[in-house]
Amino acid sequence: MHLFQSTWSTLLPSILIFSTTVEGVGIRHHKKHSCSGNIFVQCSSIASYTCCGSSRALESTRFLGLGDTYLGAVCTKKKSADCGTVAKSSTGSNLCLSHKNIKGAFWMDCTRCSKRGVVVDEDEEEGGEYADLNVTAVVEPDLIGFGGYTFRINYDVPRNITDTFEALADNETLVEDFPQYLWEYYAGMVDDE
Ligand SMILES: *[C@@H]1O[C@H](CO)[C@@H](O)[C@H](O)[C@H]1NC(C)=O
Ligand SMILES: *[C@@H]1O[C@H](CO)[C@@H](O)[C@H](O)[C@H]1NC(C)=O
Ligand SMILES: *[C@@H]1O[C@H](CO)[C@@H](O)[C@H](O)[C@H]1NC(C)=O
Repeated sequence: MHLFQSTWSTLLPSILIFSTTVEGVGIRHHKKHSCSGNIFVQCSSIASYTCCGSSRALESTRFLGLGDTYLGAVCTKKKSADCGTVAKSSTGSNLCLSHKNIKGAFWMDCTRCSKRGVVVDEDEEEGGEYADLNVTAVVEPDLIGFGGYTFRINYDVPRNITDTFEALADNETLVEDFPQYLWEYYAGMVDDE
């Protein structure tokens, strides 16, 4: 018993450190502005300085699980291999950023933002190059959402299935009208809206 307790007392601090440094943030790109509407694509757990890219131009981005000192940024003018130009950024939990033609987004710990010259709450057009912020990679979304239902896309999902989901999102098909074979990729209901 004594051994058990002392093991825990040394283990706990490292568990806490682990969970605050490694935990990812979710980035959810919505088709409509103000993070409204029920169609989105999402990178469920994304490391800082990693861009959640979108093949489509979207109008708003929700950052899920963003700590108070973390900054979220949305980018436009994405070329295939980069995140594009930062169009808007801000801090805060439950952050939603709206902008025309969002093609990517990323987050970072913003405790020392002023030293990095990051502009917070910047309006339209005047964004800086994302490269200043050292975005290290662009990843594809792993989920697509329709009216609260989510489905897996990209990664282990065949290209033609992902393409089908994206086409269904383009024409806003209701899940009720989805062909049966797509339900194989069902990933659950969103529980964090
Ligand atoms: C970003 O990259 C530049 C050049 O590689 C480097 O000098 C700078 O320290 C990096 N900034 C951060 C915040 O990592
Ligand atoms: C996707 O591709 C696979 C393999 O090429 C094929 O068997 C399947 O019928 C395709 N599905 C759709 C929905 O196009
Ligand atoms: C929407 O797109 C899907 C997939 O391409 C297609 O099967 C369906 O007929 C389209 N529906 C409408 C209303 O255009």
